[in-house]
Amino acid sequence: MSRPLDGRRVAVAGAGGGLGPTVVRALADAGAWVAAADRTVDHCSPVAEIADVVHGVDLLTAAGAQQWADAVGPVDAVLHLVGGWRGGKSVEDMDLADLDLLEDLLFHTVVHTTRAFAPLLKAAGARGRFALVSSSVVGHPTAGNAAYAATKAAAEAWTLTLASELAETGGTANVAVVTAIATPQMREENPDKAYKSFTDVGEIADALVFLCSDAARKMNGQRLHLHG
Ligand SMILES: NC(=O)c1ccc[n+]([C@@H]2O[C@H](COP(=O)([O-])OP(=O)(O)OC[C@H]3O[C@@H](n4cnc5c(N)ncnc54)[C@H](OP(=O)(O)O)[C@@H]3O)[C@@H](O)[C@H]2O)c1
Repeated sequence: MSRPLDGRRVAVAGAGGGLGPTVVRALADAGAWVAAADRTVDHCSPVAEIADVVHGVDLLTAAGAQQWADAVGPVDAVLHLVGGWRGGKSVEDMDLADLDLLEDLLFHTVVHTTRAFAPLLKAAGARGRFALVSSSVVGHPTAGNAAYAATKAAAEAWTLTLASELAETGGTANVAVVTAIATPQMREENPDKAYKSFTDVGEIADALVFLCSDAARKMNGQRLHLHG
């Protein structure tokens, strides 16, 4: 029986984090060849047995992202899962170093990854896909989240610009929006918690597989709300 991503090559950035392993597993189960990258090869250990190839790359640098793209070669889809969070202080009390850190992690890694892979995604024609996982605070910024909301907003704007470019070659770029992510480990550790505003990793992985598939070829430049 054919699977939705048979024959597709997908690169996953930040694959060893909270969400990554479930996404890599879902992509592989859907038939994709998967290249997984994280900060170091050790960071990739949660996906070492699932991905077809793993790379330790520092996406904080343009050179790191370019080396990764060169190592991966032709690719149909790129999923950006690099995360991080700082907050909890008011606009006037926020440490500007936290803003710099989030700008690096949440925006510059997107810039570097997309610049390195855009030629490959454009060459992939109608199979070309990019997806970012973002936060509902972009649409409804909350007190204490200024740096996080602003840097995720920048990453979304960049992604939606790429969507406009990929439209020329039939590809797509979209944003999957969540409020908080629940992992199986979190549910095990705190089984009585309701996790009401959380989205399970499996639900996000299913959405990302869908975005990479032919079924989503007409969805471009959209923010998919996965938080109910
Ligand atoms: N977790 C949530 O509740 C939540 C809510 C809304 C949106 N999101 C978004 O959902 C996505 C996945 O979340 P997550 O919790 O799985 O993310 P994460 O674990 O914070 O980050 C994913 C992986 O990226 C790695 N990484 C950090 N800097 C890197 C770099 N310079 N180069 C390469 N890899 C790097 C991280 O390593 P380190 O662990 O060493 O930093 C981690 O292994 C992220 O885009 C996040 O912003 C998450």
